Amino acid sequence: MTRDADATGRQVAVGDDPDVVVLTHPLARHKLTLLRDARTSTGEFRRLARELSMLAGYEAMRDLPVEDVEIDTPLERMTGHRLAGKKLCLVSILRAGNGILDGMLDLVPSARVGHVGLYRDPATLEPVEYYLKLPDDLPRRRCIVVDPMLATGHSAVAAITRLKQAGADSIVFVCLLAASEGIACLRAAHPDVRVVTCAIDRGLDDHGYIRPGLGDAGDRLFGTK
Ligand code: URA
Repeated sequence: MTRDADATGRQVAVGDDPDVVVLTHPLARHKLTLLRDARTSTGEFRRLARELSMLAGYEAMRDLPVEDVEIDTPLERMTGHRLAGKKLCLVSILRAGNGILDGMLDLVPSARVGHVGLYRDPATLEPVEYYLKLPDDLPRRRCIVVDPMLATGHSAVAAITRLKQAGADSIVFVCLLAASEGIACLRAAHPDVRVVTCAIDRGLDDHGYIRPGLGDAGDRLFGTK
């Protein structure tokens, strides 16, 4: 998989897969670099994650359908646009997903929110589900699944499988950092799911951490160790 960089700062699809989108906007690169820096404080990390998730969410919602709507400005009648089609459901993969939920909700405050609780078995790195709470009308909603790190891809695959079992048929996955292993795993299991990320890193280490990465996103978001 190759990484395309666009000097104009436009978002680009990766390699020959148009459904993997990397944010190349200068603001995204700048904020991601600050996010990665080990000296960044918990409060600053949280703020940056929220800001980056707004930028990624903006990209993830690029193809939302709109319909014409007639409105009156203070000066005259005009045709504007409003979101149409399926309503949205944001789904956070606990716990780190919550760190990028608020930025997304800033963009779409009326979206429903679901939660999938998964932890990684430290030995197998396989996801184990411990919590699931989803709106009951998922077939009528477009789902945006959020998790800051797409590492092995196993958690994302498991979460999306559960969403599909609950009837979801329109799903986008948004993360802040991805490893190409994770992207390949997710795209192989769910080829219908578009991936939006702020960067694709070199790879995974023996503990399943993305390198160079940013460390444990949950710990950095919530100030735990
Ligand atoms: N989860 C994290 O928080 N960091 C990684 O590098 C990989 C998975």
